[in-house]
Amino acid sequence: MRTRLCFVCLGNICRSPTAEGAFRHVAAIAGASTEFEVDSAGTAAYHVGEAPDQRSAACAQERGIDISGRARRFEAADFARFDLVLAMDRNNLRDLQGLASTQQELAKLKLLRDYDPEASGAADVPDPYYGGSDGFSDVLDMCLRSCTALLAEQRAAAQGRESDQG
Ligand code: 4NP
Repeated sequence: MRTRLCFVCLGNICRSPTAEGAFRHVAAIAGASTEFEVDSAGTAAYHVGEAPDQRSAACAQERGIDISGRARRFEAADFARFDLVLAMDRNNLRDLQGLASTQQELAKLKLLRDYDPEASGAADVPDPYYGGSDGFSDVLDMCLRSCTALLAEQRAAAQGRESDQG
């Protein structure tokens, strides 16, 4: 059983495609790509159908990370398609909590930076859209740190489930 992850920001053109690309990147390096299904989405519809922001794509490409895909909006039905839904900031988390209709769906929601070893408390991946280029590089660093820890945790959890099944 593959672990299904969805990264969610506001527009699905900057942070969540970066997090999706960062996760694919660290999973590939770990030889774990086939263990995961990874996607991203936005809570808003402003950019539906658009490619990732050029600034995010350029920043990722500089570090050998491909981000592609087209923006889509997160739908309530997505809760059934994913095991874990990772919000980039607390506004995204609140919006997603509003779409969840059961305790089980609520339990699938996490802040991505809950996994960041350099973050403390409820930390956001800040929206880089209206800022300078440093913002995009900082977002990528946060995503890489968080996704490295998330990958390790999810692989350990999957191994635990497998050994429980015997
Ligand atoms: P994202 O960034 O949520 O990381 O994709 C944004 C993209 C677009 C807008 C805001 C944030 N916007 O206001 O259009």
